Amino acid sequence: MNFVEIIARKRDGLELSPAEIRTFVQGASNGHVGDEQLAAMLMAICIRGANQAETQVLVEAMRDSGSRWRMGEAFPDAVDKHSTGGVGDTVSLVFAPLVASCGVPVVMMAGAGLGHTQGTLDKLAAIPGFRPAARHAQATDLLATCGVCFAAQSDEIAPADKKLYLIRDLTGTVPSLPLIVASIMSKKLAVGANRLILDVKCGSGAFFKTPPAARELAEALMEVARRAGVEVRALVTDMSQPLGDRLGCASEVRAALEVLAGGGDSRLRELTLDLAVEALALAGRAPEAARAELERKLSDGGASGAYEAMVRAHGGDPDVEALPRPRASVSVTAPRAGFVSAVDAEGLGWIAVAIGAGRRRQGDEIDLAAGVKLHVRIGDLLAEGQPLLTLELGDREVDVEEMRARAAAAFAITERAPSPAPLIAARLGGPS
Ligand code: URA
Repeated sequence: MNFVEIIARKRDGLELSPAEIRTFVQGASNGHVGDEQLAAMLMAICIRGANQAETQVLVEAMRDSGSRWRMGEAFPDAVDKHSTGGVGDTVSLVFAPLVASCGVPVVMMAGAGLGHTQGTLDKLAAIPGFRPAARHAQATDLLATCGVCFAAQSDEIAPADKKLYLIRDLTGTVPSLPLIVASIMSKKLAVGANRLILDVKCGSGAFFKTPPAARELAEALMEVARRAGVEVRALVTDMSQPLGDRLGCASEVRAALEVLAGGGDSRLRELTLDLAVEALALAGRAPEAARAELERKLSDGGASGAYEAMVRAHGGDPDVEALPRPRASVSVTAPRAGFVSAVDAEGLGWIAVAIGAGRRRQGDEIDLAAGVKLHVRIGDLLAEGQPLLTLELGDREVDVEEMRARAAAAFAITERAPSPAPLIAARLGGPS
C-alpha cells in the first residue's frame, strides 16, 4: 500500500494494521518515508489516537528498529528511570550517580529536549567532553567502570525513536498518549534493564495536565512494561510549577551539583530521593534504610564522588567551572504585591526554548549557557518589584522586552494564599 493511503486511514480515524504500523516505523528508521509524511502520520496519530493493540505494535516495532542490548542479562540489578517530561526537571542528573553510589547500577537511555521541556541529553552536552553511549560495548564498559550508563538513541539502538522524536519536537505532536508510550517504552525495552522507575508528570509544565490524564499515561506505560516482564513502579508527580529552580542546560547541571553536594533546591532533592528510594526498594532494600543511606550519600560526599566518576567515565570534565556561563542576565520582577497562586510552567519552558535552551527548527544549536533562574514558588508572598526570575542569556539574539513580558505573565499573583499541590500525587506499582 502507498504510504499516503496509510496516513489517510489514520487521518480518517481507522485502526491501522500491524503491517501498516511496521511500514511507518521501518520507513522512519531506514529513511524510506520522508519527513513530511512522517510528520503527517504523527499529527494524525496525535489527533486521532491509537488503541491499545496499535500502541503495543508501535512499541514493539520501534523497539526492534535497532538492536536490543538486554542489559538486564549482564547486570540483573540495573535500574532504569524515565520522566514523561517536565520543566526544571533535573532529576536524572542527580538520580543516576546517587543510586549508583548505593551500589545499584543505573542504565538510562535519555532523550533530548522535547517541545517546551529540556532533555537530559542536552543538559549532559553542557559538560565538556561528555558522550553518552551509542553502542552496546560502550554501555557495558560504562556500567562496569562507574555503575552508570547514560545512552542515546543511535543508528544501533532505537533509531526509529531517534527520528520520530526529532520530528515530534518540531511539529507540536508530543502530547499524545500512544506516541509518548511508544517513545519511552521502545527505548527502555531496547536497552533491556529488568527494573524501571517512571516519573509521570502532571500539571501546567507536563504534556498531560490533569491527574486523570497523567494516571492514564502512567497505567499505559506500566502495562507495556509488565507485559515485557519488567518490574516497574511509577510516581505521578507535581509539575504545576517547574520542579527545580533552574531551567536550561548548564544551569541545570549546576543545580544537580548543588543537590549532590547536600544542598540545592528542596523540591528537586525531595523528588529525587523519593524516586531513588523506589529504585533501591526494587533492588530489595527496605525503604527506611534506603532513604537513610541515600541521605548519607548526599551529605558525606559519596554522591558527588559518584558524579565525578560517572562524568569522567563518559569522557567529560566534572569541574563546575568548566560549564558554559551566561553572557548577560535580565531580572523580571513582580508587577504587584500578593501571593504567587499559579505558574505557567509550560510558558516558562517555551521562554527557555526561545532564549536558546531548546530547538525551534531542525538544525538549531542549543545554547548551553542560556537558562532561567526562578526566585519564587507557588504560595510565596511577594512585594511589588520583588524578583520573580532571572533570564540567563547566552549567544542567541532575543527580544528582551518580549521575554520580560512573557515571563511576568507566567505568574498569577492574587490576594489569597493558594494551597500548593503535593509533590507526589500517586504511587503506583509498589508492594500491595
Ligand atoms: N520522554 C520520551 O522519551 N518520549 C516522550 O515522548 C516523552 C518523554
